[in-house]
Amino acid sequence: MSARLEKLASEALGELSGASSMDAVLQLKTRYLGRKGEVASLLKELGSLSPEERKKAGEAINAVKARLEEAFDAKVAALEAGGRAERLQRERIDITLPGRTIRPGRMHPVTQVMEEIEEIFSGLGFDVAEGPEVELDYYNFEALNLPKDHPARDMQDTFYVSDEVLLRTHTSPVQIRVMEKERPPLRVIAPGTVYRRDSDITHTPMFHQVEGFMVDKGVTFSNLKGVLTHFLHSLFGDKTDIRFRPSFFPFTEPSAEIDIRCVICGGSGCRVCKGSGWLEILGAGMIHPEVFRSVKYDPEEFTGFAFGLGIERIAMLKFGIEDIRMFFENDLRFLRQF
Ligand code: PHE
Repeated sequence: MSARLEKLASEALGELSGASSMDAVLQLKTRYLGRKGEVASLLKELGSLSPEERKKAGEAINAVKARLEEAFDAKVAALEAGGRAERLQRERIDITLPGRTIRPGRMHPVTQVMEEIEEIFSGLGFDVAEGPEVELDYYNFEALNLPKDHPARDMQDTFYVSDEVLLRTHTSPVQIRVMEKERPPLRVIAPGTVYRRDSDITHTPMFHQVEGFMVDKGVTFSNLKGVLTHFLHSLFGDKTDIRFRPSFFPFTEPSAEIDIRCVICGGSGCRVCKGSGWLEILGAGMIHPEVFRSVKYDPEEFTGFAFGLGIERIAMLKFGIEDIRMFFENDLRFLRQF
């Protein structure tokens, strides 16, 4: 019996030391120490021995059993520790690496100026309206007192979609769309995208305008002057000099262009103001009676003023940007400055 025991023990320990996976170890454990394993079958043989021998053999078997159990437990523990160490190594994180900075997005400078303008006018009780960018010739020209053969159509080089459909060249068609639907009193601004066939350092084929208009009984040129003076002072500062110059638009009469003292050179003359000391900012005027007739308002009953301005131009002056195309290149190094 003791020779068989020794053989069993050395076999088991030999196989155990060769086992390299947890599965293999557990299989061996069942084979040697399981309920129907080798050690159990030795214990069953005890019944056939004399009481004297049974005691001795029983003790010997139990001693081997204990030795094997210890060896198996040690092996399992070693494999577990190895697995953990390997996993720790694999999942190692270098907490000294600098983190990745998440840069918050920011408002495009054109949007910033647009919102600032909207805020100034909403403070004066103006509502915001919008119209389509793909527009009918009727709204963009005809209803604004620009019939088909009118020479002033050449002022705006137009992208045509078809004979009657075009990309709006200004936000003025929104005047017509709003007045067709609503009755005075009206105080409205209409910001949006417009298109002209033009491209150089101060023109892009797509740019933004804000239209504004006020219609009621008894609206006068003084109201126009007061509102636009307040607007330009809010936008460029109270001390900004402003001048009104006579001008021409088919949809206003009289018409004016409004300049501010050059914010770049202070009026002494520079490249941006082309030596004049003044910057042209707004087109404006009293809404033409023909425009009122096309929306079925009685020009004897109502008067109004309207104005329009380019947003990129304002943003260029406010931020000191010399090339309008920078706004649309979407270079993050540019955009992150605002
Ligand atoms: N629509 C004109 C333009 O694009 C600006 C303007 C608007 C002038 C309203 C007078 C009144 O140049």
